Amino acid sequence: SCFWVAVLGGNVVGIVAARGNEEDNTMELRRMSVDSNFRGKGIAKALGRKVLEFAMLNNYSSIVLGTTAVKMAAHKLYESLGFKHVGVIEHYTLPGMTHSILERMFFQLRYHRYRLQLREE
Ligand SMILES: *[C@@H]1O[C@H](CO)[C@@H](O)[C@H](O)[C@H]1NC(C)=O
Repeated sequence: SCFWVAVLGGNVVGIVAARGNEEDNTMELRRMSVDSNFRGKGIAKALGRKVLEFAMLNNYSSIVLGTTAVKMAAHKLYESLGFKHVGVIEHYTLPGMTHSILERMFFQLRYHRYRLQLREE
């Protein structure tokens, strides 16, 4: 696994992690996050490109990610990096969540899966 931080003016303003799965030669992009005060500056895109570059240098055949983001900007970002939306899981629940009616009303999460094919196997 690898972890990168984006530093601006001496402060960490963004993070991203990647975990390789040797079995299917896939890298998973995880925990992409940018400080809300520094959004819209291309920081997330730069972090995403870092993961792409790392995956290519290490001969991974594809990169996958899952997100529960509801904001269009997050989805546009992944698409701009070359990811294709490959599926959605409705009512995805986070660890520890129960299924009370209230929780289902307030946490109707959709878990979107994305994949970026780097090369054919
Ligand atoms: C990736 O593949 C290329 C071409 O087959 C090879 O030269 C290179 O050593 C590989 N890199 C890694 C990190 O395995």
